Amino acid sequence: MPYSQDQDRLAINIASMTSESVEGMRLYIKDEQENYVLYREAELPIDQDDIQRLKKRGVRWLYIEDAAKETYRERMRAIAFGNTPVPTSTRIAAISGIVRDAMETTFATNDDEIICNATKTLSNVAANMICREDFGLKDILPVLHHDYGTFTHSTNVSYYSGVLADALGYSRDDVEEIVRGALLHDLGKLDIDIKILNKPDKLTDREFRIIKQHPIQGFVRLTNQPGVTFGQLMMTYQHHEKLDGSGYPVGIGADEIHPWAKICSVADVFEALTSHRPYRKPMPTPSALAILERGIDNTFDGEIVSCWKSLIKKNSTLF
Ligand SMILES: [Fe+2]
Repeated sequence: MPYSQDQDRLAINIASMTSESVEGMRLYIKDEQENYVLYREAELPIDQDDIQRLKKRGVRWLYIEDAAKETYRERMRAIAFGNTPVPTSTRIAAISGIVRDAMETTFATNDDEIICNATKTLSNVAANMICREDFGLKDILPVLHHDYGTFTHSTNVSYYSGVLADALGYSRDDVEEIVRGALLHDLGKLDIDIKILNKPDKLTDREFRIIKQHPIQGFVRLTNQPGVTFGQLMMTYQHHEKLDGSGYPVGIGADEIHPWAKICSVADVFEALTSHRPYRKPMPTPSALAILERGIDNTFDGEIVSCWKSLIKKNSTLF
């Protein structure tokens, strides 16, 4: 059966794929209608030439069946944390896959304790990666997903926030805390009806009022969790505040917004603009950067925007 729809699959980025990691697994691609199409039977191994051909065709993702997920995860853990030498890009792709996968699984539980415990481990793993001498933004950008979902968005925002914090001179421990805060910043969206979050049309005033509650709901969820720091609480509570006091949920001004919330705000808006949304296509990076720059001093902190812009420009070959 070449086509199957709406089945649970795990997406694998072919930039990081090795033939060994998917050995013995059926592989699928998505057609233009987003249907899964069988690309290769399990007994037919994929080799580097096949992978190169797929890249030339512009295919970025292959998909494996639900039943193969656990085996794939074990192989990824061995690449990410094992002693076997692998190229840095392969290890980074394995780590980012593990973080995203764990975020998806834990957010699906809607259990604050499980989510908070998982983010503690994940932020440690992510900060170790980000703070390595040989790590650069260019290593992580090609392997990020840009589909729409709170956990995908939060995972990407956590990398962007961590990379920004590292570049701004924060310590390794602060980077880890900031990554964790960013993983949790939209936790309150779990209280919002998915139909409103995914609505393709313009939101009504009532719907927008509901969306604007998510920083408060996230804050309330986190106040009950041990080990969540003040900075992380503020990242959740204040990431939609603006320097001129026109943000939400409170409308506080520049001096009252926590510096980590200011980092999260820049990372959050950049990620949202450059990702798929139910109502629009991803915005090109230069346009997203221009929006951030227009927001300097009224919405965003100028030093953080400048830092992000220079980080992106250093990696401009990707755009
Ligand atoms: Fe948010």
